[in-house]
Amino acid sequence: MTNEDVLKILREVRHPARQDRDIVDLGMVSSVRVSSEGVTVTLAFPKRRDPLAEYLIGATRAALIRGGVKDPKVETVVVEDAAPKKKGLDLDTEGLRYVRHIIGVASGKGGVGKSTVAVNLACALARLGHRVGLADADVYGPSVPLMTGTEGQQPLAEEVDGKEMMVPLEKYGVKWMSIGYFAERGQALIWRGPMACNALKQMILQVEWGPLDFLLVDMPPGTGDIHISLLQDIPVEGAILVTTPQEVALADVEKGAAMFSNKNINRPVFGLVENMAWFTPAEHPDEKYYIFGKDGGERMARQLGIELLGRIPLVQSIRESGDAGEPAALGTRPDAEAFLDLAARLAHKLG
Ligand SMILES: Nc1ncnc2c1ncn2[C@@H]1O[C@H](COP(=O)(O)OP(=O)(O)OP(=O)(O)O)[C@@H](O)[C@H]1O
Ligand SMILES: [Mg+2]
Repeated sequence: MTNEDVLKILREVRHPARQDRDIVDLGMVSSVRVSSEGVTVTLAFPKRRDPLAEYLIGATRAALIRGGVKDPKVETVVVEDAAPKKKGLDLDTEGLRYVRHIIGVASGKGGVGKSTVAVNLACALARLGHRVGLADADVYGPSVPLMTGTEGQQPLAEEVDGKEMMVPLEKYGVKWMSIGYFAERGQALIWRGPMACNALKQMILQVEWGPLDFLLVDMPPGTGDIHISLLQDIPVEGAILVTTPQEVALADVEKGAAMFSNKNINRPVFGLVENMAWFTPAEHPDEKYYIFGKDGGERMARQLGIELLGRIPLVQSIRESGDAGEPAALGTRPDAEAFLDLAARLAHKLG
């Protein structure tokens, strides 16, 4: 592999906020080193923070791996007037200064409907007249673009007080931000732990959210290091936990709750949401089948000493509307009511 080969690969990496020009063309590739030790690429960023820096580092690494480079190294420099200096992630919370409540939506394990609840809760809060934003913090499997029908759109970058900030997309009265808006469809980015973490912090911190009553953060599934790091740098006020009613889910909810009560984190859990609480078939809208057991959520909430904030039924239309990008909470069916109730309780709880 030669420098030319590497540059050819790097031309696939486009900067979404710069008319999609590639990073070579934009002069962002400061050096390429090919040696027996491997390939190292250094990207140059202007002194003014680039809100997509972490995304571009991930995208560069992913492109190199796709191009056949084994374990490529991507380094960064900040280009100042004269000497370049090592770049660190700037973690100020300016973009959040007009946000009243930042709430994490979490779960002990994946696939329980956390994103479905987060997206619908956001829409329901907006329907009740609140100003709402949602940050999709799942860098590995961002689902907000699909669930809101905003796939293929791209947030713009804007300069605010000399700093470059991303402007969230707006639809259904909610402001949305997701790393999914920057990744090409179907192309998973290849993240390493700390990089993923930085990328998603930028997706929350370097965003001009403007005045909001609620900013929901759809946390990645699980309770790993990424969560701890995220909670240390983002002023999340507290969390709601999503679960399904099975007995086996209790252990996972406990793990989720423990993450927030961890002495380094220490944020309250505002409540539990029992998703898929019962099944209602489309052709029998008045029937309730407790296929995962009845009152599991209530028992769990009691055992953990937290409030059960809402119960959401398992209905086909919730999945269909999610896939269609039109959240169920916007409709008039009973499942919309379930999300509106949840929203009202949460808003009441937080005053
Ligand atoms: N109450 C529900 N009724 C019907 N389908 C649902 C319901 N909740 C979630 N689903 C469906 O289940 C699937 C998983 O939901 P979702 O993506 O919200 O889970 P998640 O917890 O965010 O998953 P991940 O851990 O991968 O982030 C989706 O196809 C969604 O449409
Ligand atoms: Mg999800």
